[in-house]
This record gives sequence, C-alpha cells and structure tokens, in this order.
Amino acid sequence: MENTNYEALAKAILSEDAAAVVSLLDTLYRGGGRCDAVLDEACRYSLLAGGKRVRPALTLEFCRLFGGDPQNALPFAAAVEIIHTFSLIHDDLPCMDDDDLRRGRPTSHKVFGEAYALLAGDALALDAFGLAASNTAVSPEARVEAVRLLSLASGSAGMVRGQIVDMFGERNALTYEELLFLHAHKTGALIRVAAQLGALAAGRGGESPEMAAAVGYAERIGLAFQVIDDILDVTSTPEAMGKSVGGDADHHKNTFLTFSSVSEAEAFAAGLTEEAVSLIAPFDGSERLIALARYLAVRRV
Ligand code: IPE
Ligand code: IPE
Ligand code: MG
Ligand code: MG
Ligand code: MG
Repeated sequence: MENTNYEALAKAILSEDAAAVVSLLDTLYRGGGRCDAVLDEACRYSLLAGGKRVRPALTLEFCRLFGGDPQNALPFAAAVEIIHTFSLIHDDLPCMDDDDLRRGRPTSHKVFGEAYALLAGDALALDAFGLAASNTAVSPEARVEAVRLLSLASGSAGMVRGQIVDMFGERNALTYEELLFLHAHKTGALIRVAAQLGALAAGRGGESPEMAAAVGYAERIGLAFQVIDDILDVTSTPEAMGKSVGGDADHHKNTFLTFSSVSEAEAFAAGLTEEAVSLIAPFDGSERLIALARYLAVRRV
C-alpha cells in the first residue's frame, strides 16, 4: 500500500471502531440507583474520556479479517478497553506513576480522590469479565475461552506482572531481556488478547492458523507500541499526548531509550511493524490491519 494512504485509512478505522465501542461503553454505569452514583460517575469519567481505542479496534478488525461480524466481537472489544482503562487509572495513582493528566483530563484520583479511583479501577476490572462472559453472539465455549484469555493477559501472569517489573526497574537497572519481558507484559499482553478475542469471535480459536497470525502480529505491534510510548514520553508534550510526559526519566524507569537512541528505537519499531505486516498479509482484507500497524509505528499521540 502507498505510504500516503495508510494514515488516512488507519484513522478512519480507529474512528469507526471507536464509535462502535463507545456506543456500548456509554450504556454502562448508568446505575439508576443500583450502584453508587459517584462510582458510576468515576467509571464513566475515565471510560468516556477519549483515548485512541487501539485495543478494541484490534478485536473488531481481527474478527472482520477472519470473516466474522464485528458486531459479535463488540462485548469482547469493550471488555478489553475497560480492563485497559482500569489499568490506566491505577497506573496514575500516587503510589504508582503519580500522574495528574490522562486522556486530556485530570486523572481519576485528582477528581474523585484516591479511594474512589482505586474502587473505580476495581469495578471496571471485575465488570469487564461479566461483560465478556455475557457475549451471547458467540458459543458458550468461546465465551469461557475469552474470559480465560482475558484473565491470563491482565492478571498476575500478564499486565500486572509487567507493572511489577516496571516498578522494580525504578530501583534497579534491567537487562535488555528483562525490558523486553516488561514491555511484553505491561503493554503487550492486553494488545495480544485484544487480537485473540477478535479471532475467537470469528470462530478461529485454539490452534488455528488465523489465531497464530493474530498472536504473531499483536506481539510485534504490542512491543512497537510501548517502544513508541517510551519515545513519546521524552519527545512529546502533555498538550499533544493528553497525558503527563517526562515521568519515565523522573522515576528512573527502564525504557527503550535506556538502551538505544530515539532513531534506533524508531527503526526497531518499524522493523517489528513490517514483521507483523508480513504475518497477516496473506489474508484477504488485511490492508486494514496493515494500515493500522504502520500508522501506530509513526503515531504522535
Ligand atoms: C497508554 O495506552 C498506556 C500504554 C500501555 C502505553 P494508550 O496509548 O493506548 O492510551 P489511550 O487508551 O489511547 O489513552
Ligand atoms: C502503563 O505504562 C501500562 C499500563 C497501564 C498497564 P506507562 O506507565 O508507560 O503508561 P503511560 O505512559 O502512563 O500511559
Ligand atoms: Mg506506568
Ligand atoms: Mg504511567
Ligand atoms: Mg509511558
């Protein structure tokens, strides 16, 4: 595909898929007395604040690529985005990265206080599993598998594990291999499961070649995504990103820029992206996910 085209296509895909997932997210936490009103408000504040919606787009696009109706993947896509949102609320807490700005707004704890931010994160994390399990558009087996994969990707063997290594790295120099492990878990795991759930919603589970291609693609763009996040933490601004920048250096984090220059890191992300592209290129209709991968490697937000 012409380089001039992929950016416009990727932006159109993100905006179309974001609209679909936001329409579902917007139905949630309207408790009407069932829940605590402030908790509802805190959950909606973070869920509807914007964000690129990269993970739900991957779920919907992999479902589409493998011949499924993206509508059937929508609860899975929303579940991944909800878990991601919880991880951001907790990531910003004073005991973690202690950040004030997220998705263009003051962070949850700045608005609702630490206890509500903690509990909004808890609620989102747990509610996401119920949403995935309620996806009656797919078989009961696929629903159970989705819940299992979501748990693996987000819990002690997934994103949380990565956050632990990230924290450990504030006080200790990591090896390059440990940094790869950190990125594969704190960011890679949720990106990987987003793609897996799309394949699953299209009926391509288990050992299928489609699932293998989705995983291979997502592992590479997931790593590239965090490499770019590390670069933008140094080169961008809060206005452009809608979140605090510079915190990695302030907290003595190990990042890709601990090991390489900005241009080397960009070249590494570009190489990973082309590997990802080659894994899905054989599938008809892959131009959408190819455009998305290439756009994410040069993103500025
Ligand atoms: C931010 O993720 C945290 C990382 C894992 C790098 P995103 O860059 O996807 O954040 P939003 O969802 O667009 O706000
Ligand atoms: C956060 O990584 C990853 C998770 C929330 C699990 P970062 O700490 O680098 O994300 P930002 O830069 O605050 O978005
Ligand atoms: Mg962090
Ligand atoms: Mg952070
Ligand atoms: Mg970061």
